[in-house]
Amino acid sequence: MFHMKVATRCTFQLSSITANILAGDHDLRSCVTTKMKLNGGIKTHHSLSKQASHCIRQQTRTKYFPCLRLTTTEAAGKTIPAYAEKIVGGWLIGCAGMCFGAVILGGVTRLTESGLSMVDWQLIKDMKPPGSQKEWEEEFERYKQYPEYKYVSSQKEMTLSDFKFIFYMEWGHRMWGRMVGMVFLVPAGFFLYKGWISKALKPRLLVLTGLLGFQGFLGWYMVKSGLQDQPKDTDIPRVSQYRLASHLGSAFLLYTLFLWQGLNKFLPYNKYPYTNQMRNIRMGAFGIKALVFTTALSGAFVAGLDAGLTYNSWPKMADRWIPDDLLALDPKWKNTFENPTTVQFNHRHLAESTVLAIAGFWWMCRKAPLPPRARMAVNCLLGMSLIQATLGITTLLTYVPTPLAASHQSGSLVLLSIAIWLCHELRRLPK
Ligand code: HEM
Repeated sequence: MFHMKVATRCTFQLSSITANILAGDHDLRSCVTTKMKLNGGIKTHHSLSKQASHCIRQQTRTKYFPCLRLTTTEAAGKTIPAYAEKIVGGWLIGCAGMCFGAVILGGVTRLTESGLSMVDWQLIKDMKPPGSQKEWEEEFERYKQYPEYKYVSSQKEMTLSDFKFIFYMEWGHRMWGRMVGMVFLVPAGFFLYKGWISKALKPRLLVLTGLLGFQGFLGWYMVKSGLQDQPKDTDIPRVSQYRLASHLGSAFLLYTLFLWQGLNKFLPYNKYPYTNQMRNIRMGAFGIKALVFTTALSGAFVAGLDAGLTYNSWPKMADRWIPDDLLALDPKWKNTFENPTTVQFNHRHLAESTVLAIAGFWWMCRKAPLPPRARMAVNCLLGMSLIQATLGITTLLTYVPTPLAASHQSGSLVLLSIAIWLCHELRRLPK
């Protein structure tokens, strides 16, 4: 009776994989027997009656894919159709893509020194850039009150058209941020209304909403630090490296969460033996993801302090392995975050360790029984880490030109994405 009831709600077909799993399973075989009675003994699974097929599916899901139990539970009330799951997955991956775009745009805004051109923040009013000549001149006058203009104009003249360029860069970045919010929130409301958001995803969407708001707040908090007067007139106005690293780190976190949740909707669990070797590989993959994230954060400190403009040599730092001014500041811990030499020293050595760790991991995986997609991810990880390190070294040797620095920044997100993908491929079925 139960089977009959559920079967009427279920439409999708039994896959051949499920049929294979069935071969060695007693519980499920009893289901097949039930079906064969119902169907008069016809043996191919294509000809299974709806009721028996559903019975098999229910048990297969519960037994081999316990993580899907939530969806199954929901199926008792309301089933989320497979196409809706894919749409939700596409939307989440789209949001991840939008975050990727925001990071690139933010990087180019910083590299073109445009980030301090808008001197206040208003959610709605900021959306319309100045239109008339008078409005532009007023906006320019406002900018002139702040330290960046004072510094730049002491070096070279800044015209209204120069100002328009930096203004549009920052405006574009802020508008993109608003668009990420819209692309996330509007469909979220629609999907919730349609009942397409699973129970497990609901609290995660709440976390993502909070993080998105926090990201916007951090952006403005960072810009504010660059609008304050500098200790000396000769100091280049720049935002706090702590706030820049927080803004970038939180963008990376947001991207990671969107991508992971999106992949959940597309990539099924892989079957692989849960041996000690595979456990070590899985833990290694998560460790590498954390290492890539940490290296990227240390890169944000390099960017925040313009530390890529000191010691433009590799592998040594001006003919020395350990530069003299590595611990120039007191107290010593301050060097880690505030001394450009130390910040660059840490980033390059963290990056080199990351590449070596990835190479070692690749070696460790060579003979392991990895699922095919996971093996592909391991190979991509090694290739991308070499590209990323080459980009970093070239950026340093060529005194941080904008196109290279921007490619190096996006490269870090590509590397992180591959690490996320790999971890996703290796995730274990929940017990
Ligand atoms: C796993 C490898 C690496 C990762 C994940 C990584 C990541 C990053 C990130 C996220 C930034 C901040 C970009 C920004 O906000 O604009 C950065 C900046 C930087 N990195 Fe790397 N990096 C790696 C390797 C290297 C290497 C090997 C070098 C050179 C020895 C290097 C040199 C630099 C420089 C000079 C900057 C500052 C660029 C700027 O001012 O925009 N990186 N890195």
